[in-house]
Amino acid sequence: MKKIIIWVMLVMSMCQISANMPTEVFNSYPTVYAIGNEYQIIVSVKKSTLMWVEVNGRNYYDDSNGILRSESPTHILKVPMAELDKAKKYTICYREIVGERLPYFNKTTELKKISFNFRPVQGDNIKIYSIADAHNRVETPVAAGKFWGDDLDLLILNGDIPDDGRKIEHFVTIHKIAGNITKGEIPVIYSRGNHDMRGKFAEKLSEHSPTQNGNSYFTFRVGALWGIVLDCGEDKPDTNVEYGNTIACHEFRLRQTEFLKQVIANAENEYKQNGVKYKLVVSHVPFSQVPNPPFNIEQDIYREWCKLLRDEVKPHLMISGHKHRQYVILEKSENDHLGQPCPVVVGSHPSNDFYRGTAMEFAPTSVEVLFTDDKKTVLEKYQFPIK
Ligand SMILES: [Fe+2]
Repeated sequence: MKKIIIWVMLVMSMCQISANMPTEVFNSYPTVYAIGNEYQIIVSVKKSTLMWVEVNGRNYYDDSNGILRSESPTHILKVPMAELDKAKKYTICYREIVGERLPYFNKTTELKKISFNFRPVQGDNIKIYSIADAHNRVETPVAAGKFWGDDLDLLILNGDIPDDGRKIEHFVTIHKIAGNITKGEIPVIYSRGNHDMRGKFAEKLSEHSPTQNGNSYFTFRVGALWGIVLDCGEDKPDTNVEYGNTIACHEFRLRQTEFLKQVIANAENEYKQNGVKYKLVVSHVPFSQVPNPPFNIEQDIYREWCKLLRDEVKPHLMISGHKHRQYVILEKSENDHLGQPCPVVVGSHPSNDFYRGTAMEFAPTSVEVLFTDDKKTVLEKYQFPIK
């Protein structure tokens, strides 16, 4: 009898993990974005809610200087990586605001909780899937992103996931794709694309997607993998008539040159940390390849990025999108225009009939790259040595 009670209790506790999502409040599963040395758990909601996450018995609130935020459709809950990696589970806690948020005597619903398991990146074999250029599509990119099934360790969303920033709802596309693939249980890297810079909500990036102190460029460390996300911004000159005087990417790119130099100066705490075995560059735009007018911009800046990466960081692979085609450019090949530091994988192909993305597997001696589609068909396969 005692054994039966224990078994029932065990099953009940398992059922509480990743239980049915409260779809009347949540737009999708939470997504655990890895950025710097923290996870930013993003929950996209339909109603005014107050929210925090409980990890290892400690609460991490979505607050603004002590005020629990309720008037944004996006909650961002920041947790130290080491804490969640240790706990391997987290509980989203929330209350809905009843009626309107008031200066006094607010009314809220009772406290609700929903728990999720979490699997940090671990071991020497790391399976990754990269999606870029979904351009508001959800179903086919999600189908492609399930290539590794439950073995997926890390998802990368590499820009142009929404078509543009004209509606605040477009940010939901990012979290829906990430949530549907990962179910909130593994980490995700988010990198911005050039289309994400267009429309009146584009400037609200840091309120609705993971950024580091507001910056869309950053480094990350998940298990044996270290990575750097670089953001080329727009793909044409700031003065292009298409932008109508709204863009200042030249200075933005120069700030990233300085950022790259700081990362190199701090190498011991970045890519030279104990346990780092693989190094990945994530950039929506494959900035090292031969461009065509009007895209042949900032060649001096991009040449310097290539040199700093090649001489100092020595990455094993760079993953990009943007071109709506899939191909690989090797160092010193015809399309290596600026002295790229490693093989550059241009890995996304959206269409109305299919979606194609890139699966990667890092292993001690080599990294395998597979171009796959939403039917899990392997279209092309490459292997590069890990030196
Ligand atoms: Fe793009």
